[in-house]
Amino acid sequence: MKSIRNAGIVGVGSYVPPRVLTNQEMESIVDTSDEWIVTRTGIRERHIAGPDEASSDLGLEAARRALADAGVDPGEVDLVVTATISGDMIFPATASIIQHRIGASRAAAFDIGAGCTGFIYALTTGAQFVASGMYETVLVVGADTLSKLLNWKDRTTCVLFGDGAGAAVLKPVPEGYGVLGSVLGSDGSGTDLLKVEAGISRRPASHETVDSCLHTIRMAGSEVFKFATRVMGEAALGVLDKCGLRAEDVSLFIPHQANTRIIDSAARRLGLAPEKVFINIENYGNTSAASIPLALDEAVQGGKVHPGDLLVLVGFGAGLTWGACAVRWGNGSDD
Ligand code: UT7
Repeated sequence: MKSIRNAGIVGVGSYVPPRVLTNQEMESIVDTSDEWIVTRTGIRERHIAGPDEASSDLGLEAARRALADAGVDPGEVDLVVTATISGDMIFPATASIIQHRIGASRAAAFDIGAGCTGFIYALTTGAQFVASGMYETVLVVGADTLSKLLNWKDRTTCVLFGDGAGAAVLKPVPEGYGVLGSVLGSDGSGTDLLKVEAGISRRPASHETVDSCLHTIRMAGSEVFKFATRVMGEAALGVLDKCGLRAEDVSLFIPHQANTRIIDSAARRLGLAPEKVFINIENYGNTSAASIPLALDEAVQGGKVHPGDLLVLVGFGAGLTWGACAVRWGNGSDD
């Protein structure tokens, strides 16, 4: 379907809580080693939210920074979409909390839950509202505090995740710029491979669910790994094909930061040189829905993104889900 107009990313921002937890500290929490974590995942440290810090607190700061970067007043925002699987509460939506606290008084707000693919789903959704002409300004936030959902006795999961948030402001841009296309996918047969089972309708909270640690993340790591190495490359090539582009056209590949081995495998599939692949997992771990916007913000602030560049953002996660967006940076005025 042809859109009426394109939605572009006109501002980005991110935020991580100040507390850093290194692999060395992790060695005193579970039976692991810095060497195992670095060679198997690429992670060296992660940021962990404090007892009083929730996902909306991180998302709010990232959103403030993105609006400042875009030069957009909160009162101009028409819609806040927040990708999260660790919202402040079961309900209301974390997007509504951010919408109120940031002063986006006339904005609609809702959450999207697609695991670590959440930001790609939210960016795609936000872009549709702009493309259709329904809204002028959409604030897309990815915010997660998975440290609150970890079993700190399970070394197969607790070393992998960190907390953070990233945000992007979307506005109309000229044809040929902004979000050029997206692919989204889901295979619910993988539900049990990555989940937090208890605390809501299937298994409401009870003493038994708490005693059995069913409120924490469980993951079949190697199954998710196999799935991820397949879908990351497929999704990236799929979105390029949809937009009539090729891997050679990509200026910067910004993948979900879950594991450097997964990223390397996707980059090989696309035939991309290392300098075209953005990796910051070593400082943050897997920050779930925050991972892609956090990487995008670092890439932009670090001068790695230029007007006219073709970016490919790609993610995978619980669901199992996957998705990719092709984005032409800028608006044509400064190429
Ligand atoms: O955003 C989506 C979220 N999920 C992911 O991104 C996860 C994708 N999966 C992965 O990244 C990898 O599968 C892991 C990093 C989780 C694990 O790497 P792996 O190469 O698949 O290792 P494995 O699960 O096959 O485990 C190898 C060994 C096992 O020991 P044995 O059975 O061979 O003796 C594990 O018990 O490593 C052991 N192990 C650890 N050792 C030290 C597992 N976790 C740890 C640990 N420290 N933290």
